[in-house]
Amino acid sequence: MSVSIVVGAQWGDEGKGKIIDVLSASADMVLRYQGGANAGHTVYIGQKKYVLHLIPSGILRPGVVCVIGGGVVLDPEAFKAEIDVLHDAGIQTQGRLLISPRTHIILPYHKKLDQCSEDQKGRQKIGTTGRGIGPAYVDKYNRAGLRAIDLLNEAIREERIRENLKLKNFIIEKYYNEEPLDESLILQQAAAHAELIRPYIAETIERVDTALRGKRSILVEGAQGALLDIDYGSYPFVTSSHPVAGGAFIGSGLGVVPDAEVIGVAKAYLTRVGNGPFPTELNDATGTLLRDRGGEYGATTGRPRRCGWLDLVALRYSARINGLTQIALTKVDVLDGMDRLKVATAYTLDGHELDTFPADPEEQKRIQPVYKTLEGWNDSTASDSISALPRQAREYIAYMEDYLKIPVKIVSTGQRRDQILFA
Ligand code: GDP
Ligand code: IMO
Ligand code: MG
Repeated sequence: MSVSIVVGAQWGDEGKGKIIDVLSASADMVLRYQGGANAGHTVYIGQKKYVLHLIPSGILRPGVVCVIGGGVVLDPEAFKAEIDVLHDAGIQTQGRLLISPRTHIILPYHKKLDQCSEDQKGRQKIGTTGRGIGPAYVDKYNRAGLRAIDLLNEAIREERIRENLKLKNFIIEKYYNEEPLDESLILQQAAAHAELIRPYIAETIERVDTALRGKRSILVEGAQGALLDIDYGSYPFVTSSHPVAGGAFIGSGLGVVPDAEVIGVAKAYLTRVGNGPFPTELNDATGTLLRDRGGEYGATTGRPRRCGWLDLVALRYSARINGLTQIALTKVDVLDGMDRLKVATAYTLDGHELDTFPADPEEQKRIQPVYKTLEGWNDSTASDSISALPRQAREYIAYMEDYLKIPVKIVSTGQRRDQILFA
């Protein structure tokens, strides 16, 4: 049996899609366990770019079975758009893409409420993707959600949507002063969405168990990143699910797999999209350089990503909350040609030194990074082995490993599939 959980170790967009794509060359199954179409996972196959939002990135490898687990919140409209792109590219989904009957469905009122809540005056904006993620998880935990299996049942579907919409429209109209949503239109769309997803619904628990017992190779694909985790991220500037590896056992239906490999994907620098604390953020020419060279614009919303130096304190915190067993370091090539590189090794707060990411949002805002400056490299990181990387790049990696006490086993040096090195 081999289970590898691939998680974002920072604030998302670390290059999980690329790592999953590379590893899925030898996988039998890829599972998504949380989040929804807020994710944007980019995979390049030759010159062709695919951005996966809901469907596991393993779908691009023929023969790999892909599972959308019960912990995901699925927007049928986003799902349709995504399968259309795949089908247009000649990629078959029928029979190898499975949706758990327990997956919750995102409805138009979730997206509307997400946007209304962000637009509300006076409220500190989280800078969500506007995909309805928070409101859909609220309904799920409030036991008012509609799951995929419920969507297929006309009586349950209609009753639950009607019941929910009464309250949602009350809030939309009376609290947000916005136009209410049209009930008959939502019911009609939901009926069409039921037929769209019906062929994909399968008892995923049984399929996953069979794969586990058959000692198949299973990859679990996290979305977002540990620092956006609802419990352990920079709350309230987080998403509404559990991107950390522990979430995988629940959200995919795998159960606890004690010997799973937990691969934390980390960028060689750091980015964040949306609001919230970011101690090593660079609002200067270096930040702009990283954004330009790294193409740091959101794969889902197109927003420019905030850029900064690698934060080892935050990464060590992430390693702890995930139980990382190894790191996949991406975008090392983006640092090519930079004279000096800084990494945060501690924070200071009012003259005191902190060596972990604080829980207090006020402290998160005020902490100042303590930097270690490392030598940059002028040569290109384009190489065919880790040992052939420029000396300074190897030292940068060794410094990380020593600080984190976790090995870097994968190094990515470009967007393409072949730009990958294994230790
Ligand atoms: P994800 O959400 O974690 O899958 O990451 P995104 O797809 O949102 O953002 C990562 C971006 O970096 C994408 O445009 C990838 O094509 C790109 N990328 C991934 N790995 C590398 C790398 O090693 N070097 C460079 N230059 N780009 C990379
Ligand atoms: P991938 O999987 C980066 C951020 C949003 C916002 C916060 C809450 O591509 O790494 P939400 O819409 O989830 O309620 O927004 O989380 N966010 C992401 N940032 N990558 C993502 O996904 C993200 N998904 C959500 O920008 O700050
Ligand atoms: Mg992304």
